[in-house]
Amino acid sequence: MTRIGFIGGTGPEGKGLAYRFALAGHEVIIGSRTEERGVEAAAEVADRAASATVTGGENAHAASEAEIVVLTVPYAAQADTLPPLREACDGKLVISTAVPMTFEGGKPSMPAVEEGSAAEQAQALLPGANVVGAFQNLGAAKLWKGDEPLDQDVIVCGDDDAAKQRASALAKDIRGVRAVDGGPLYSAKFVEGITVMLVGINKRYKTLAGVRIAGLE
Ligand SMILES: NC(=O)c1ccc[n+]([C@@H]2O[C@H](COP(=O)([O-])OP(=O)(O)OC[C@H]3O[C@@H](n4cnc5c(N)ncnc54)[C@H](OP(=O)(O)O)[C@@H]3O)[C@@H](O)[C@H]2O)c1
Repeated sequence: MTRIGFIGGTGPEGKGLAYRFALAGHEVIIGSRTEERGVEAAAEVADRAASATVTGGENAHAASEAEIVVLTVPYAAQADTLPPLREACDGKLVISTAVPMTFEGGKPSMPAVEEGSAAEQAQALLPGANVVGAFQNLGAAKLWKGDEPLDQDVIVCGDDDAAKQRASALAKDIRGVRAVDGGPLYSAKFVEGITVMLVGINKRYKTLAGVRIAGLE
């Protein structure tokens, strides 16, 4: 059992991952800009994962109490949200789920990210943490739908092998998920881009598609 804190855990992705981790027996803390919203979202997750320990509070509380921190704020919010959490994240595994994506004329696209990717930006903003990019391709709707196996891969990118292995183990705790080593944190931008493509695929096929890498043992 690991204590996992979500930064911006009140949105669909944070609640979806929190729900799945709670089902797997982990303790979950839902962080928010306000304690009230964190507590409210925690109650929603706890309702669906009855035997789990799920609490909520402000982002700073979630970051400082957690053993592993999961970032589920929008990419555009990272630059303001992460610096005050620096000390609380020092020495911890921090998982970046963010996808820099905008909609222009109804079309999904990716803004240029100075650091290369949302995950690399998070690493730059949290220099004492071990940032790993993962879970960017798992859609919130499917995570929240129920306890059914997901039949999807989570591609894990990072520069620290131990942090990557820990994030991979967490991914495998979600039923039906396989973890795939995606290489260094530099490669997170490719994984983030897959989600932008999936948004289009899901729209055209009216589904909730994910990713499976073929040809692996
Ligand atoms: N939704 C998906 O299916 C999906 C799939 C893959 C990856 N992701 C990634 O997962 C992350 C979360 O996605 P989401 O759909 O759950 O996002 P969201 O609902 O837009 O935002 C999540 C939470 O972030 C906080 N937040 C929003 N704007 C903020 C701001 N300007 N400053 C500080 N905090 C802010 C809010 O929490 P409070 O108001 O409680 O503070 C909000 O509930 C994103 O980075 C997204 O790219 C999402």
